[in-house]
Amino acid sequence: MIRPAPLALILLAVAACTAVTRSPTSVETTARAEGLSVTPRPHSIVLGEGRSPLSQVSQIRASHPADPRIRKLAHLWQGWSERLPTDPLEIVAEAAPATGERSIVLRLRTAVDDGDESYQLSVKPGGIVVEASTHAGLFYGLQTLRQLTDRQGSVPAVEIRDAPRYPYRGLHLDVGRHYFPVDFIKKYIDVMAMYKLNTFHWHLTEDQGWRIEIKRYPKLTEVGAFRRETVLEKNRDPYVGDGIPHGGFYTQEEVREVVAYASERYVTVIPEIEMPGHSTAALAAYPELACTDGPFEVATSWGVKKDVYCPSEETFAFLEGVLTEVMDLFPSRYIHIGGDEAPKDRWRDSAVAQAVIEREGLADEDELQSYFIRRIETFLARHDRRLIGWDEILEGGLAPDATVMSWRGTEGGIEAAKQGHDVIMTPTSHCYFDYYQADPENEPLAIGGLLPLEKVYSFEPTPDELDAEEKRHILGAQGNVWTEYLKTPRQVEYMAFPRALALAEVVWSPKEARDWRDFSRRLPAQLELLDELRVSYRRGRIAPAIDD
Ligand code: ACM
Repeated sequence: MIRPAPLALILLAVAACTAVTRSPTSVETTARAEGLSVTPRPHSIVLGEGRSPLSQVSQIRASHPADPRIRKLAHLWQGWSERLPTDPLEIVAEAAPATGERSIVLRLRTAVDDGDESYQLSVKPGGIVVEASTHAGLFYGLQTLRQLTDRQGSVPAVEIRDAPRYPYRGLHLDVGRHYFPVDFIKKYIDVMAMYKLNTFHWHLTEDQGWRIEIKRYPKLTEVGAFRRETVLEKNRDPYVGDGIPHGGFYTQEEVREVVAYASERYVTVIPEIEMPGHSTAALAAYPELACTDGPFEVATSWGVKKDVYCPSEETFAFLEGVLTEVMDLFPSRYIHIGGDEAPKDRWRDSAVAQAVIEREGLADEDELQSYFIRRIETFLARHDRRLIGWDEILEGGLAPDATVMSWRGTEGGIEAAKQGHDVIMTPTSHCYFDYYQADPENEPLAIGGLLPLEKVYSFEPTPDELDAEEKRHILGAQGNVWTEYLKTPRQVEYMAFPRALALAEVVWSPKEARDWRDFSRRLPAQLELLDELRVSYRRGRIAPAIDD
């Protein structure tokens, strides 16, 4: 990652853009809902009279009681919280006579999962009904019900209609800089799903570690998954290492387990296989893929490395082999191929690279990167998959069907949308959860920058510069968690939460319902839920609203 801007500049920028105003909204017309803490804030809430005791629920009445996904939803719901009943739930047809016990109705309106994530939740003294046209919608309705449940196990009478603002609601995790165990990945997905985030971007390969088993290329993990040591704190000059070997990788069986786990929680896992840069670990395993002779070692320090894949036929065959196994493991429509921070020094000096430029009639090394990415896109498209890359893939010309993840600000995303490409916004300014959350004096070591919770909350993913047609290309936004300075799950949780909750509201709730004061009021109840899940979120003071 590039170094963030100097802190003083960032402080100024934060001061300028965190003056979140309180706008009147349609949601506020249902002001009686103010006592509720559902996050992200639903589209509309109407509070009724009285409460329903969920602790007495022993039956799920379902429109499709034999549907395994409905059964899974019932099972998940029951497992979510110690505040819910623990007796086995009976799952029966909606039309079946009620046994006299209280029940929750799960009503699926259609049999086709068309991506519609909306739901309606009705809690009345007479019963609780979750209704949606997809399983994902039912899942979100149950997540809302979970958040409405108080410590005594009761929920207020309420009518909620809800739907997401954006289809792509992401959280990323870099497991290349540090390896994190499967159980933690699952917990991360659980918390994401609780806040209706639906895409886990799994950054699986880096200079400092290759983390996914590829059966065709065993050295990727035998060699590439382990580094000798790690540079002490920030890169030091002269270099000082910690002398502690670090490594680990996910077997294909574990990857399948994570993908299935996420899928049951309506989270799509998008794998990222970095190319042509951030590939030192792969080059350590297979030096013949580089433009120079090597040898290479799995990187022990941070930053952008000059050694990248050489654009040889051998490299393309290798990457296609890797991606073939990756596509077999990940059913996601998208595959992320990185594309960021790939210096062109080695290509400039390489006869192989220069011959490709000559053969293909390319203008320069930027066009060579573009050629590289287009070839990979063509390969993915043959397998009915779509490519996502960081915004550097704009340089030298975008591959025809590429989706751009805009990280160096929103400009790359704006440019891509104007060219008719889909975009995911993840600018460092608002979405880099490896940045400090408050004054670095009082915070654990981080990469730099400053991104307080309220600034995340102020993010607007759809730029005003775009016209209505172009705006449709903004699929959503994502928080990125790079882990150079995050060695443990606890440290990751500290950086990701509660900032991911603020971003969840940005991508789920209606724009006009965005209200920092209201979010801050709802947050303590959410932090209690995170406590129950043993999430080590940052317990910072929440800035009071101006009018408090
Ligand atoms: C990035 O932060 N290098 C995408």
